Amino acid sequence: MHADVAPRPLAIAAAGPLTGEVTVPGDKSISHRSLMFSGLAVGESRIRGLLEGEDVLATAAAMRAMGASVERREDGEWRVSGVGVGGLLQPQTALEMGNSGTSTRLLMGIVASHPITATFTGDASLSRRPMARVTEPLSRMGAEFTSSPGDRLPLTMRGLCPAVPIEYRLPVASAQVKSAVLLAGLNTPGITRVIESVPTRDHSERMLRGFGAELTVEGEIVSIRGEAELRPQDIDVPGDPSSAGFWMVAASIVPGSDIVIRNVLMNPTRTGLIQALTMMGASIERLNARTISGEDVADLRVRHAPLSAIEVPPDLAPSMIDEYPVLFVAATFAKGRTIARGAHELRVKESDRIAAMAAALGLSGVRVEEHEDGLTVEGRDGEPLAGTGGERVASLLDHRIAMAMAVAGMNAAQPIAIDDAAPIATSYPDFVATAQKLGAQPTWLDA
Ligand code: S3P
Repeated sequence: MHADVAPRPLAIAAAGPLTGEVTVPGDKSISHRSLMFSGLAVGESRIRGLLEGEDVLATAAAMRAMGASVERREDGEWRVSGVGVGGLLQPQTALEMGNSGTSTRLLMGIVASHPITATFTGDASLSRRPMARVTEPLSRMGAEFTSSPGDRLPLTMRGLCPAVPIEYRLPVASAQVKSAVLLAGLNTPGITRVIESVPTRDHSERMLRGFGAELTVEGEIVSIRGEAELRPQDIDVPGDPSSAGFWMVAASIVPGSDIVIRNVLMNPTRTGLIQALTMMGASIERLNARTISGEDVADLRVRHAPLSAIEVPPDLAPSMIDEYPVLFVAATFAKGRTIARGAHELRVKESDRIAAMAAALGLSGVRVEEHEDGLTVEGRDGEPLAGTGGERVASLLDHRIAMAMAVAGMNAAQPIAIDDAAPIATSYPDFVATAQKLGAQPTWLDA
């Protein structure tokens, strides 16, 4: 995985307007879940449009290691033959999770109610991320954990079968924690309940129901009946709104741009960035609204527009949590001072995204003020950045920091240099090629 590959520095400066059409890769959250739930169904599922980034491939390898058959056909369709809920096998070696928090936390939920022992390992970024948020509820269900200090990876867990159903109120707004408990509940007798006071992405709920689980949502309470039988599904994975976000901001900030982004997931738990950018004056038109595999999808036409600073409503945070790095880039070119607070979770993502973006934008000449739970960005009212003057911003093994700063470079008079763009492959292997297709001119530098 990229932690072991050589760093790949990238530089990018303004090269004129972005134009044309792009199709973003499949949604990362839905891709992970497609492989996991298919691997727990009885029979063969078909998945089209799967995101083939490193994170999702880590999930594929883990499901294989626990007995599911997961194959990619030459035409790009994936076929998964599941083992049935409760049927996962003891993996023979450690499950290598690379950079992927979603793989790790959701798979821990699945393992928790199977009679198997599994070791999870990850790269330096993932090994710094907190796992207590999942080990705590899963321990209550009966799983046992031996973690590295601070509840971190590497971690070995032993599942319990039958596990004990719980009712769990989420202490943090996290779809990963919600999903881990629900997935443990899949093979647990009785009803497992999760109470979430702040709604987070609901892909697990929608998809588990689609696979035939008895799952209900009543207000804040999500309940799943265990010892479920999942039926194989045919899935078309819609395009990832988090990946589309980079192009939405790029087209908004680069003068003269006019692009169409095809096939973007419009699930309301994921569209916070569109709302925030629209408040800032961005021109984002939804075209061809339709439903694919039970999810709302649309094409987006985005044109350059002058942006104005906003106070980002904190209640948008869960629906745009992965989009803050690129929102800070939009704020960089807005008129006035954008204030984003209430996003403390950014501190425990693939990097500390508040500190990482404060440093990266600071090095690029942007005036920022760091808060415990967010960032204030002094906008430049459209004025291009000067560039990093030969210095390189640190991407810190964080794909979204690398891509956000590449977008910033698209409106920089001289290059913004990024020390390592290799992590982009975790979620968007075609990002650089797509930037070129739209007219940007990223250049690989010597390490
Ligand atoms: C995800 C949930 C979010 C998000 C991550 C994907 C998911 O994490 O940041 O990229 O697929 O459930 P949290 O649950 O930590 O908020």
